Amino acid sequence: MYSLVYVSRSLLPSGQAAAEIDSIVNVSTARNAAAGVTGALLYTGTRFAQLLEGEEAAVLDIMASIARDARHCDVVTIDQGPVAARRFSRWSLVYVGHSTFAAGIVERALAENGEPDGYALRNLMRLLQELARPLAPPPEE
Ligand SMILES: Cc1cc2nc3c(=O)[nH]c(=O)nc-3n(C[C@H](O)[C@H](O)[C@H](O)COP(=O)(O)O)c2cc1C
Repeated sequence: MYSLVYVSRSLLPSGQAAAEIDSIVNVSTARNAAAGVTGALLYTGTRFAQLLEGEEAAVLDIMASIARDARHCDVVTIDQGPVAARRFSRWSLVYVGHSTFAAGIVERALAENGEPDGYALRNLMRLLQELARPLAPPPEE
């Protein structure tokens, strides 16, 4: 199992962001499922942060497509390598909209890029995991 986290800068005009992200989610849900890739995408209004996990070749293949995408720029991989187990059971969109709180966490993770076991990177991963947590099943009637 291989995991990759990148951060990028959104080029989406704010009026079109919701529609474009809908289309990204539609393409990604199908393509990632077919490739056995899970993870989470965070959008803060100015930045994207995404974690992808799966077979190394599948993750790198999808990452190559993402890196070519003109809807964002300054794509920086801040963490990648083998992991013991999958942390996300499905692919999910974590948040859409302006959040200075989430944007701050992403900025700090980017600033710390390359530091082994960086605190800010772990904070970003925790935010992704917390917000992407699958909904609990409905209570029994
Ligand atoms: C921020 C962002 C995240 C994306 N995440 C994914 C993803 O997880 N999976 C995916 O298949 N495409 C994703 N895309 C879309 C790809 O960049 C690309 O448009 C799509 O995979 C089609 O690939 P192709 O242009 O190489 O045919 C994302 C695009 C952006 C801008």
